[in-house]
Amino acid sequence: ADLAGQAAFDRVIAADSRIEPRDWMPEAYRKTLVRQISQHAHSEIIGMQPEANWISRAPSLKRKAILMAKVQDEAGHGLYLYSAAETLGTPRQKMTEDLIAGKARYSSIFNYPTLSWADVGAIGWLVDGAAICNQVPLCRASYGPYGRAMVRVCKEESFHQRQGFEILLELANGTPAQKQMAQHAVNRWYAPSLMMFGPPDDDSPNSIQSMAWNIKRFSNDELRQRFVGMMVEQVEVLGLTLPDDQIRFNDETNKWEHGPLDWDEFKEVLAGRGPCNSQRLERRREAHEDGAWVREAAAAYAARKHAEQEG
Ligand code: 3HC
Repeated sequence: ADLAGQAAFDRVIAADSRIEPRDWMPEAYRKTLVRQISQHAHSEIIGMQPEANWISRAPSLKRKAILMAKVQDEAGHGLYLYSAAETLGTPRQKMTEDLIAGKARYSSIFNYPTLSWADVGAIGWLVDGAAICNQVPLCRASYGPYGRAMVRVCKEESFHQRQGFEILLELANGTPAQKQMAQHAVNRWYAPSLMMFGPPDDDSPNSIQSMAWNIKRFSNDELRQRFVGMMVEQVEVLGLTLPDDQIRFNDETNKWEHGPLDWDEFKEVLAGRGPCNSQRLERRREAHEDGAWVREAAAAYAARKHAEQEG
């Protein structure tokens, strides 16, 4: 069965078609998808914390309502992605327990603090901008449930990026103090946002296999340079600057170039020693414990409904 399964799988990948949950797939394909999709889901859930920090301190009702909608969207993206990962046979509870035990990865970017209101703008513009750059190609991922989840996520992510851009535009056109607050936020979030795309291609152990299986469509460095090109244009409109005087377009390679990134910092953050790692996990544990009664009530209700239908 495996020989026939492998042949069918290879044909689907070669035809750039979709693998669905019931199709035969190599265990390594399943494993790398659970790895990536669960980490993606964890990123969305932990990603709610930096922004939520400003919901109660938003400068106006309009900003508060928009920020609440965005944070709720992130929760939905997380649930979408946990569901996609569950189709591969890994229960959501296991993924949640791994995250809470500090055994699961989530995006490095969410281990940085949100120090001012302008950070909410910089996160929307830079972090969601980088997420879009990374997620649009994932809409064509070979695993059906993942690619389809990305279509919905990308639509909402575009709204997230626009609201972040608008916050920065308003601040940049405000008082000198507001413009400076916006510039400081861009200065702090620029490099960590570039590192969201993952390590340099020559230090990316999953890329070759992930690209062979049409999960990853473009390399980490390819998407990173594409993102820099997008930001160079938009930062002009904001009247702000990117904290990198080595950004230039290389006509020979047809690629954007940027200054060096601190990969030692990246490795520290991935090792759990970033500015906010322990606080993020602690908050996630608390939220999980505080929410236990809701899960128990929902499960009891579902069991009673089931018994009534069986009855
Ligand atoms: N943060 C944490 N870990 C990272 C990372 C990052 N930014 N970039 C890479 N890593 C990890 C990888 O997971 C891998 O470790 P593992 O083998 O234990 O999983 C290791 O570093 C080496 O990296 P590779 O390049 O070999 O790994 P991948 O091929 O998986 O590429 C990736 C990394 C590009 C992040 C890819 O996993 C991916 O595209 N993931 C889905 C997208 C995603 O997770 N985006 C997070 C965005 S957050 C978000 O969307 C919220 C927004 O709405 C605000």
